[in-house]
Amino acid sequence: MIDVYTAMALDGDSPVPLYFQIQSCLMKAIDNGTLMPGNKLPSERELAAKLAVNRLTVRQAMSELVNEGFLTRKRGLGTFVARPKVEQGLSKLTSFTEDMRKRGFRPAARLIALEVQGADKKMAQSLRIGLGEAVIVIERLRLADEEPMALEISHLPAGRFPAFLTLRTEVSQGSLYDIVRDRYNVTLCAAAETLEAKVASAREAALLEMPSGMPVLLRERVTFDQNGIPVEYARSLYRSDRYKFMVEVGQ
Ligand code: GLP
Repeated sequence: MIDVYTAMALDGDSPVPLYFQIQSCLMKAIDNGTLMPGNKLPSERELAAKLAVNRLTVRQAMSELVNEGFLTRKRGLGTFVARPKVEQGLSKLTSFTEDMRKRGFRPAARLIALEVQGADKKMAQSLRIGLGEAVIVIERLRLADEEPMALEISHLPAGRFPAFLTLRTEVSQGSLYDIVRDRYNVTLCAAAETLEAKVASAREAALLEMPSGMPVLLRERVTFDQNGIPVEYARSLYRSDRYKFMVEVGQ
């Protein structure tokens, strides 16, 4: 365990609350690399003893840093310095595989479901097909260096992708966008997206390996081919502690 803590000079007479002083010291140690991603912090009890402060003060300092995504709690293991969030641009049409490779992560997928369903209203509207028409549903947990990053459900109009269900191995191992391009000769050209926050359901939280009730970022995408025909309707749930989204704005 790293001992940056005994070096923390807390000032009990300062008008700055002690929890805030602890937070600032921890942030400084994270910023200057004294504390590195993955480093374990002492327990609240240990840290309170080291700093000669109340345990609740330490808890408040740590909880805020957990909420802000600088620290992460792993059940039964303790509190760790979090990895910096992935900054994801929203202005280019890219695939998960591309995005992760660009950052030096190893992308992977765990296939949860691959099946054909009748289109519900939302799928039919997004894909511009009739209600009840066949839709290929692909649910995957997306991983980067084995760590869950997002839970994605893609819907494709089945008529356009014959024999898709036979591609199970490819879908579970590779990029959906590569399959669509290489196997079906479909070029994805543009997408319309929305981004909103929601609370992870118990199932989603379990799959994403995060505490249930944590917020996730829901990104919905309708992807179009070169003729402006919708090819994919996707719902991606991103871990809010691993992602921030970036948009460039001009005049
Ligand atoms: C992103 C998009 C999804 C899309 C996926 C394809 O994550 N949000 O809508 O389905 O990329 O990624 P890949 O080609 O790696 O399967």
